[in-house]
Amino acid sequence: MSDVDLSKLSWDERDEVINPPPAVTDFDRVVEAAISRRGFLGGLLVFGSGAAALGSGLLNASTALASTSRFAFKPIPIATDGTVHVPEGYSWKPLAKWGQPLFSGVSDLDHETGGDVASSDKVFGENTDGMELFVIGDKQVIAINHEYVNEDINLPKNEKGMPTSADDVVKLQNLQGVTVMEIAEGADGWSIVVDSPFNRRIHHRTEMVLDGPAAGSDLVKTDLDPTGTKVLGTLNNCGSGKTPWGTYLTCEENFNGYFGSTVADAKLPDDYKRYGIAAEGRYAYEKFDERFDFSKHPNEPRKQGYIVEINPADPTSVPVKHTALGRFKHENAACVVARDGRVVVYMGDDERGEFLYRWVSNGIYVPGGDTSTLLSDGTLSVAKFNEDGAGEWLALTPETTGMTAAEVAVFTRMAASKVGATTMDRPEWVAVSPVAAEAYCCLTNNSRRGVKTDDGKIRGNAGGDPMAVGGPNPREANEYGQIVRWYPADEDHTAGGFKWDLYVMAGNPVVHKDAYAGSGNINEGNMFNSPDGMVIDSTGLIWIQTDGEDSNEGAFAGQGNNQMLAGDPATGRIERFLTGPKGSEVTGLTWSADRRTMFVGIQHPGAPFPDGEGKLPRSTVIAVKRDDNALVG
Ligand code: FEO
Ligand code: CA
Ligand code: CA
Repeated sequence: MSDVDLSKLSWDERDEVINPPPAVTDFDRVVEAAISRRGFLGGLLVFGSGAAALGSGLLNASTALASTSRFAFKPIPIATDGTVHVPEGYSWKPLAKWGQPLFSGVSDLDHETGGDVASSDKVFGENTDGMELFVIGDKQVIAINHEYVNEDINLPKNEKGMPTSADDVVKLQNLQGVTVMEIAEGADGWSIVVDSPFNRRIHHRTEMVLDGPAAGSDLVKTDLDPTGTKVLGTLNNCGSGKTPWGTYLTCEENFNGYFGSTVADAKLPDDYKRYGIAAEGRYAYEKFDERFDFSKHPNEPRKQGYIVEINPADPTSVPVKHTALGRFKHENAACVVARDGRVVVYMGDDERGEFLYRWVSNGIYVPGGDTSTLLSDGTLSVAKFNEDGAGEWLALTPETTGMTAAEVAVFTRMAASKVGATTMDRPEWVAVSPVAAEAYCCLTNNSRRGVKTDDGKIRGNAGGDPMAVGGPNPREANEYGQIVRWYPADEDHTAGGFKWDLYVMAGNPVVHKDAYAGSGNINEGNMFNSPDGMVIDSTGLIWIQTDGEDSNEGAFAGQGNNQMLAGDPATGRIERFLTGPKGSEVTGLTWSADRRTMFVGIQHPGAPFPDGEGKLPRSTVIAVKRDDNALVG
């Protein structure tokens, strides 16, 4: 390990410290060298490659695109301040803030203490992320994730926010997970319906069941659950998904960081190393909640890292962890029903050099029929992208991997390594177009892509699979990210093959004149870095949210705070719609039933947003409307 303070690192940085590259001792030096070499640009770009655009000047690249705009807003400039900005003719208001009561008898956030443990499972959690809106009868209900907690503001009286008691741990556990809440629009705008029977908190201690190939296997049996069919809690709920039958999918991402060992020098099995499980948990859970001490319960981490299905219409329903959809650092779950009625779920594994997955059900979705086991049984595959613009889905089965079905479900990364999948630049959200047979994945960045270790080897992912430059990951030391798009063969999302291209390569055309300037649809006025959240609306517009470097300096000069942009899939035009407060990530997007309100998540603002000076920064969902109450977008 190192003497770095792990609690101050992002999940991504934490992975790097836990799993440092062999023979690299000075990471920054390596990255700088790589950037100065300016690697070969490969891959297929629809809207002009950075290299191709060099002669014509990237600053004018957008003029080469179709000149008509389908955006119903005037694009906004970057921002570097502490609040949210939307286009002229639009306005925003908070809908739900961290610590806001879901039930009566609970006070709003105490800015001195970050709230008390007794009310921590009755308030809106912290670090809002993926969300979906459900129309249930005449009610509107949002299910929304709380990815993690900023310990120093949740426990502001503790040194570095670290728990010093079991109560502190319970408080942090309660403020993460999922909120289900009814919302309604009144004269003053949208608000939470306090005490609605739909309101519910699901957190790190909520009882749930495991199903699918790993359920009942020895890999997931523990002292607490000798049957291997039950589990407490869902961890690090990042992006989301919505099934065609009206359930919510919450996606467990950096689950590894919650486990630790109270035994010094605990030996780590190979699967722990692949998943980044280390001796020291981020929130010291292992010291106060024995379940998170893997020296005592080595299978407990193997019960986390799945897609979890929640029925928002029934507050008494037990969430189900679907092991069939694999175990990795799940970003989101993009569902689509194929022509033959099978359910297809696309999913990214957000870590450097990990993979893009597709799951296809064996059963057929019949509207109104029994859907309770549709996500329990099917085939998981992983993407292989070829240089020529074609690709294929490689099935992960006992035959292709030499592993049992339960092992594939629990050790999915290792199964995917065995079949030769393509290592990706950190797959974040996948979105499927509702109007065309195509899907998109944000590849947020990968500063280690193509970088060599001191012994001359190309850096690998945590399993050692090399992260060579090429295909949909065309830039060495890629700090800006790109969005890959694929078109399933025969317009059938269950097909074995696909064609792919890059919808956009983010970059900075002011700082760079090469591939790092970005693709032809990036210009001085719309540039951004690190695409992450992504939702395609019912008209086919692509909404892109960023979680990147917001220093507005150096390689990121002119890019400002994190933001949300809209992209036209046909023309490639991308324009900025919203900017978040300094320090925040913009993540999570859904619409009201009438589509006249857009709900957007503002995670971990660095400024005292939205309550103002002297107050704690609060992760917040905002409601964005047009002043003329027309459709938003
Ligand atoms: Fe939680 Fe990969 O974002
Ligand atoms: Ca994300
Ligand atoms: Ca991210």
